[in-house]
Amino acid sequence: MILEKKFEDMILKVSTRSALSSSYFVGKKDKIAADKAAVDTMRSELNKIDMIGEIVIGEGELDEAPMLYIGEKLGSMKGPNIDIAVDPLEGTNFAANNLPGALSVIAIAGKSNLFNAPETYMNKISANVTEKGVIDLDFSIKNNIKNLSEYKNKEPKNLTACILDRPRHKKIIDELKNLGVKLKLITDGDVSGALMVTDKKYNVDLFLGIGGGPEGVLAASALDTFNCFFQGKFIFESNDEKKRAEKMGIKDLDKKYELDEIVSGDSIFCATGITSGDLVSGIEIIGDEFVSETLITHKSSGLKKIIKIKQTI
Ligand code: FBP
Repeated sequence: MILEKKFEDMILKVSTRSALSSSYFVGKKDKIAADKAAVDTMRSELNKIDMIGEIVIGEGELDEAPMLYIGEKLGSMKGPNIDIAVDPLEGTNFAANNLPGALSVIAIAGKSNLFNAPETYMNKISANVTEKGVIDLDFSIKNNIKNLSEYKNKEPKNLTACILDRPRHKKIIDELKNLGVKLKLITDGDVSGALMVTDKKYNVDLFLGIGGGPEGVLAASALDTFNCFFQGKFIFESNDEKKRAEKMGIKDLDKKYELDEIVSGDSIFCATGITSGDLVSGIEIIGDEFVSETLITHKSSGLKKIIKIKQTI
């Protein structure tokens, strides 16, 4: 299903308004309040749109924040059937502590075109590579770097890999260091991390590592429009997580998902800055107006750019 162009403006409005609401809580050391503000606004803005919308990716157990429930119906209930993935506040710590990189993120697609991801971790890999077989979650770090180095015609010492700075990544980080690869260690915010591969200006050649599954699906939607490579494998730690995955229809719990199995057909993605970061600038309030910056992508129209707009509060 092709999403009409008018949805670009509507989704842009949802993410910019949600970012504005959350921005009032920046630096207030209260990530729950910052998240709730974004969630509430996202919900009320989505309800203004003529669509039969359904949340397929919402907030989850990975943070202790209020939820836009998976399965929640949104919109006027007139119009097309739309799948919605949201992360109203991506980087709760960034917002609470007034650090760079907090975003409000949303993606939409036609019914059944967005993967219904469980609230578990996902092992992810992305790069600006169009061919299959260059990088792969199943390859060793050494092989991925060797292949990427050949593909990009850049020596490993001139490649940069972005990864969440977590103890669980120690082995990968050590291997990358031994191969001479430059590291871009991020403390949070792996939607942005995965998207650093989309443009040379970010100077990131490879994104990898374990982060949130929902964040993986959201990033995949934008990476699809940028024609980048992405793979993800969910990680089910407890029996409870495994049972819920099976209930969601996931039969093979070890399956590695290709990008086109996560996002198929048309999609629109918006990530609006709450605090300024690598990807976009944060919300600026001037009198009764606010300025926002959003990375917006729309697969069918080929739109992929950063939009700066001024709106009345
Ligand atoms: P929140 O916005 O929910 O705090 O998530 C931030 C984040 O860094 C994500 O970008 C990432 O996918 C996930 O947390 C990683 O989880 P963990 O902090 O448990 O390693």
